[in-house]
Amino acid sequence: MADNLPHKVADINLAEWGRKEITLAENDMPGLTHIREKYRPQQPLKNARIAVCFQVTVQTAVLIETLLDLGASVQWASSSPFSTQDHAAAAMAKRGVAVFAWKGESDEEYVWCIEQTLTFPNDKPLNLILDNGGDLTNLVHTKYPQYLCSLVGVTEGTSIGVHSLHKLLNEHKLNIPAINLADSVLNSKFCLFYGVSEILYQGIKCAAAVVMLAGKVCVLAGYGNIGKGCAKILRSFGVRIIITEIDPINALQASMEGYQVTTMEEASKMGNIFVTATGCPDVIRGEHFLHMRNDAIVLNMGLLDREVDVEWLKRNAVETVRVNPRVEKFKLSNGRHVLLLAEGRIANVTWAMSYPAFAMSYLHSLHVLAHIELWTSRDKYEVGVNVLTTKFDEEVATFHLCHMGSKLGKLTPEQAKYLALPIEGPYKSEHYRY
Ligand SMILES: NC(=O)c1ccc[n+]([C@@H]2O[C@H](COP(=O)([O-])OP(=O)(O)OC[C@H]3O[C@@H](n4cnc5c(N)ncnc54)[C@H](O)[C@@H]3O)[C@@H](O)[C@H]2O)c1
Repeated sequence: MADNLPHKVADINLAEWGRKEITLAENDMPGLTHIREKYRPQQPLKNARIAVCFQVTVQTAVLIETLLDLGASVQWASSSPFSTQDHAAAAMAKRGVAVFAWKGESDEEYVWCIEQTLTFPNDKPLNLILDNGGDLTNLVHTKYPQYLCSLVGVTEGTSIGVHSLHKLLNEHKLNIPAINLADSVLNSKFCLFYGVSEILYQGIKCAAAVVMLAGKVCVLAGYGNIGKGCAKILRSFGVRIIITEIDPINALQASMEGYQVTTMEEASKMGNIFVTATGCPDVIRGEHFLHMRNDAIVLNMGLLDREVDVEWLKRNAVETVRVNPRVEKFKLSNGRHVLLLAEGRIANVTWAMSYPAFAMSYLHSLHVLAHIELWTSRDKYEVGVNVLTTKFDEEVATFHLCHMGSKLGKLTPEQAKYLALPIEGPYKSEHYRY
């Protein structure tokens, strides 16, 4: 493949469709629009050259346009080869953004696309990274260390990416300040809890539309941020929920919500629908498939492809039928069938539905504020894995509250004195768990 292309997308003719959807998403991303209005006059990202490795979707296009609006130059590749919305990529290429992404890139093409984001016009290297999963950060640290000296920092929004940052740090290989956004309150308690769960319902219906949810039993592996949101939304459709957990605290939370908590060995005999959201490999294995009822639906919402042992299914199925692009049906030796969605990959991302724009607006807003921080207050952040203070979560939360027409109370000077809090916040300590 040739290097130094201005962009590489599947079909530039999809740009008009992409633009219409970007506008729709923008109207439901109040955090980003508030940030544009507030910070545009100062151009705080002037001269910043940001390499972005993030799913190429209409929602992320709004993030990219916000960075551009604040003065940055941006080059963009996808963080997940299956997730690219080709119409979003086309719209951004049409407006002159250096975007390198198309749905279904091979592994080799995926790395090539990321590599195209490293040098900007006139051979100027990147000086900031906006990452989602750690691939760009790892690539620079391992294959292109010559760029490390020009780098001011990286922001990372996924737990897997943060895990790999800590790994680099522990091995004394991390060379730049990093900001962990995965553990920010607005990401874990809002973006994941509300955003991912809402898309789960759409995902099940989109793949297996004929299946009625009410009255079914859903086994949810993992009662973390995503599991909690999925359980809440499925319960509202009349689904009975069974939780499997390995952490007693999360298991206790599930029990106190009235969910049955048991092992996968037991639950596999009872469920009609199985959802994994653990980040742990081999949560659903051969012995569990063999217990399942006929036509059990299995899907994974975790980033790790190996939560469901798809290889076992492939090796042991006596017959495999592709029902539609999203569903494969495996006939087992016991005569029963298992319906696997999205080949066991992270379902919502694989289907390019990604997240609702409003939910993405939380995380994307934090990315922008973190980049302004890194670029304008770089001495504040040391090489290591940093977190943003609560003040930033509160600022982004306020932007979204305004959009919903919600009204926030204000402390009187006497109340503020009694509580020993600044009237303008932050209102909670960094350890508060919400
Ligand atoms: N679908 C998406 O769009 C999306 C977005 C962000 C993150 N993720 C991924 O989803 C997964 C879950 O994210 P989260 O924020 O809810 O994480 P979390 O850490 O809050 O929750 C995961 C839960 O799974 C439990 N668990 C771990 N191993 C288990 C096992 N073998 N059996 C049963 N339970 C087990 C843990 O105790 C924990 O409570 C992660 O892999 C994360 O990277 C997905």
